[in-house]
Amino acid sequence: MRQFDAAAAESDRIPFGEQFTPHMVTAEWTERDGWSEPRLSPFGDLSMSPAMVGLHYGQVVFEGLKAYRRDDDAVACFRPADHAARLRRSAERLAIPALPEESLLAAVDLILEADGGSLPQRPGLSLYLRPVLYASEANLALRPARRYAFLLIAFVTGGFFSDRPDPVRVWVGRDHTRAVPGGTGGVKFAGNYAPSYAAQEQARQAGCDQVVWLDPVERRWVDELGGMNLFFVRGGGPSAQLVTPPATGTLLPGVTRDSLLHLAGARGLDVREEPLSIEQWQAECLDGTITETFASGTAAVVTPVGEVRDGTESWQVGTGLAGPVTLALRDALVDIHTGRAPAPEGWLRTVGIRGAGLGRPAHRESLVGSGQ
Ligand SMILES: Cc1ncc(COP(=O)(O)O)c(C=O)c1O
Repeated sequence: MRQFDAAAAESDRIPFGEQFTPHMVTAEWTERDGWSEPRLSPFGDLSMSPAMVGLHYGQVVFEGLKAYRRDDDAVACFRPADHAARLRRSAERLAIPALPEESLLAAVDLILEADGGSLPQRPGLSLYLRPVLYASEANLALRPARRYAFLLIAFVTGGFFSDRPDPVRVWVGRDHTRAVPGGTGGVKFAGNYAPSYAAQEQARQAGCDQVVWLDPVERRWVDELGGMNLFFVRGGGPSAQLVTPPATGTLLPGVTRDSLLHLAGARGLDVREEPLSIEQWQAECLDGTITETFASGTAAVVTPVGEVRDGTESWQVGTGLAGPVTLALRDALVDIHTGRAPAPEGWLRTVGIRGAGLGRPAHRESLVGSGQ
């Protein structure tokens, strides 16, 4: 674990998930008192019982959201209420008592007030916030736990793949299944991720960046990537069609996905939530119907997909580079993140910080509010 080094950040690419800010926020749930108020404390190790339920049985859900630097005194968090709502849905699926959405927003405010100044004003950097809910009871009975804990930590990051919208190469996973009907694929359950690593490793060995997950029943409909949703562009210009697989329970309905559907619709694109098979993806790339494909997510923002590998076959998407619809939607989203364009109502929560720099005390009187 490294603490964020602001001086190094001026020049280096900052890897995802490594450089944490100096504080964290915690809360606890008991049967008697429900959820406690979130509290700010220095980032530090936790102590736990070796019999903790979350460790043994995986009763753990999490979120991932980002805040962007505004001027010297503020950071803006992107759609925290929507992430809080998804955390509630994830908690309900795992029989975890839902953290009130206001508590997550209060926790976000606490960490951003304290550590927002850690985020340099360098374009492309953001503060990634990681809330987690986990079963903290020490008991190995096979039933939902009777004690839970909440944790919010943050790290400074550049792009997930790179700081620029460089195209990635994806690999079609044929040996494993990420999600099943009635399972947990539609929520952000910690146990969704480790089982995908074997396929991710196969993808890496095949020279690819990410796994394309197919539907678990027919194994032919494209669901999503391991940590991102997928979009396909047919045609180009103002009449381009934008297609993303429907959120029928086996893919995670991304907040970025929802934002892009909104922004594309507002630009007059023909936006559709429709299934697309792997055969269609290949055939329509080859005949030029599909001109672009991109991945979307909090970490990846909008990342072009340049090439698909499926067993011994591979095909290029469009020119193999970032296409114009991909870049226009990426710019539209990034302009909202950074305040260059107005945000739709309720998308941004702006939190005041005082001073910029690591380890400064939290500024409790700062103005906290939503808006642009
Ligand atoms: C499996 C999966 N799909 C899609 C996404 C994209 O979701 P969002 O746009 O809310 O980050 C994520 C990231 O949270 C993910 O883990």
